[in-house]
Amino acid sequence: MKILIVGNGGREHALAWKLKQSPQASRIFCAPGNAGTAEIGENVTIAANDFGALVRFAKENRVDLTVVGPDDPLAAGIVDLFTGEGLRSFGPTKAAARLESSKIFAKELMREQRIPTAQAGMFERSDDALRFCDRMRFPIVIKADGLALGKGVIIAADPTAARSTIDEMMNQDRFGEAGRRIVIEEFLLGTECSLHVLVDGANYRLLQTACDHKRVFDGDAGPNTGGMGAFSPANNWSAALQDQFHKAIMRPLLRGLQERKITFRGLLYPGLMICVDGARVLEFNCRFGDPETQAIVPRMKSDLLPLLEATVDGKINSLEAGTIEWDQRPAVTVVLASGGYPGKYETAKIISGLDAAAKLGDVHIFHAGTKRANGEIVTAGGRVLAVTALGSTMKTARAHAYEAISRVHFENCHYRHDIALSAVAGNIGNAL
Ligand code: AMP
Ligand code: GLY
Repeated sequence: MKILIVGNGGREHALAWKLKQSPQASRIFCAPGNAGTAEIGENVTIAANDFGALVRFAKENRVDLTVVGPDDPLAAGIVDLFTGEGLRSFGPTKAAARLESSKIFAKELMREQRIPTAQAGMFERSDDALRFCDRMRFPIVIKADGLALGKGVIIAADPTAARSTIDEMMNQDRFGEAGRRIVIEEFLLGTECSLHVLVDGANYRLLQTACDHKRVFDGDAGPNTGGMGAFSPANNWSAALQDQFHKAIMRPLLRGLQERKITFRGLLYPGLMICVDGARVLEFNCRFGDPETQAIVPRMKSDLLPLLEATVDGKINSLEAGTIEWDQRPAVTVVLASGGYPGKYETAKIISGLDAAAKLGDVHIFHAGTKRANGEIVTAGGRVLAVTALGSTMKTARAHAYEAISRVHFENCHYRHDIALSAVAGNIGNAL
């Protein structure tokens, strides 16, 4: 099979790496890919939002399956277009991807199906939003309705901060169209957990759990990022939570979609907050998480390709129970970022030590913002690399990941030193 992967991040490199190992995979194309995917398959210089060129490429090269990584092309209907052209593709349609691309849509569906989530109000007018804030206990969470590169969620500590955030989003176009409508919700206390679920419309299979680290600095300080590291499995998950997840979240969600005549086929990644009274949904994502994928996929022993195909074909139930085999060892993924990230960041810094780091056993180096220039691999994005290591315990996986990182260098590289620290048994919270 010829497979086209759309996107250029660490997630796409991890998916390409895994799919390449399938005995059914003959060629892997990445559009546009990065220096890491170029070593696995063939990079194609087509941007993820250039749908016309992607369709032409898929047809001319007789691509059998297209796997869409990022949220933006899904929200813009890339899967509808591909399917209309007779091309098989993995990911939800535009209508189904609204679970991620409209927080108001997701909230309405959750409310209707009584799916546990934060209490919220939805607003189209700033004066209504401001009045609602007067009745809230602070802090509160203000969310732009649409996609905003992961930056559309603001936690407002007091009424002054809430007023200025509402004004910036709704009246001053801080997030453009995405912020014209907003959700304001109660602040939930708890720990976060990322679920990854292959959904074929009617049925689904859970993948392994993971935890992301969204803030840029150690100790969860500083602004939010796309994700600075992850570990899998999550340390806050349990059989009881999984039972609640099936009954109170997944089944009602599928019912709500069915009632709207929407078929979701693809990867659903609910972001959950584990609170004292159980799991609540913070958001639904309609694609693999980044960097969660880089921690989950190296633990998957099964072939990923038949799982993606069963999802696209609506045949998840034909997979035998227990078909998805996992390495029981935990994985830790640490993201190396460019100087300045998540603000304006530097690029074109030469990266050294990649081969030395890759020589370590059970270490995988996934590229994100990298490219090849004059025979060197150089930085080309905010998040540059995701270094994953497996170990017999979370502690050894962590130690391996940081040892690999110590061999990699680029100017002004920064990363968190406390990824997975909270999951190391008996640890009292000292950073590395
Ligand atoms: P979202 O994009 O909705 O997942 O929000 C991004 C991040 O904001 C989440 O991963 C949480 O860290 C935080 N967040 C979102 N909603 C809430 C909430 N209701 N209470 C506390 N934190 C939240
Ligand atoms: N891990 C955050 C995201 O993929 O949205």
